[in-house]
Amino acid sequence: REIAYFEETDSTNTQAKKLGDAGAPHGTLAVADKQCAGKGRRGRGWDSPSGSGIFMSILLRPDMEPSKAPMLTLVMAVSVAQAVCETEGVDTLIKWPNDIVVNGKKVCGILTEMSTEVDFINHVVIGVGINVNTGAFPEEIAQKATSLRLEMGHPVKRSPLIASVMHFFEVNYEQFQKVGNLSFLQETYNRMLVNRDRDVRILAPGNEYNAHAIGINEQGELLVRRGDGRTEAVYSGEVSVR
Ligand code: BTN
Repeated sequence: REIAYFEETDSTNTQAKKLGDAGAPHGTLAVADKQCAGKGRRGRGWDSPSGSGIFMSILLRPDMEPSKAPMLTLVMAVSVAQAVCETEGVDTLIKWPNDIVVNGKKVCGILTEMSTEVDFINHVVIGVGINVNTGAFPEEIAQKATSLRLEMGHPVKRSPLIASVMHFFEVNYEQFQKVGNLSFLQETYNRMLVNRDRDVRILAPGNEYNAHAIGINEQGELLVRRGDGRTEAVYSGEVSVR
């Protein structure tokens, strides 16, 4: 696999996209020790000081319809959860659609960006940010965010964890390419789903309501039961098109 390592860069997602636009092969990985313009979802930033975390983005050239790309984010979420669980021995859960949670707090976020040509995928970049050795978080997010080091009580090595994430992702990705949906991963995902069997607030555009989360379906949509007993599928849509 081709690996582009940066001691410091703006954003590994931006770099992976550049590599993709320049023709880099499927599976190329961009990794940085530090990002000075790390990107989070919904236009937010992702604080990425040196040594604190894993900042990496994988470039994919999947042979599938653009509408299937959001499922790739869930494939990565399960892969990160499996890797953290295996290498660190901690219980790792997923907050739908793609935040990785340890002891109720977020340790990892995923940002997927896609480049399309009319109706096929040119490439997809899946960016993974894991809080590995962060010592403390700003007050505003300390309630919601944590690092592996804070949860384990000791520093954690980054490279074995990167290798493990890539291993699990390769295995899961191959299945996904074959099957074309998440049926093969649905049970594993739902077992890790922190919202499972809980009341959640659905924030759909122009439509906010309370519902009971059941689990994901084969498309990665969250199935919820509404007050009137109806079951509804909430679309993930966590992919931005650039
Ligand atoms: C989120 O908002 O939860 C997603 C955060 C994604 C952060 C990672 S760090 C590596 C990659 N490069 C970026 O600029 N963002 C992603």
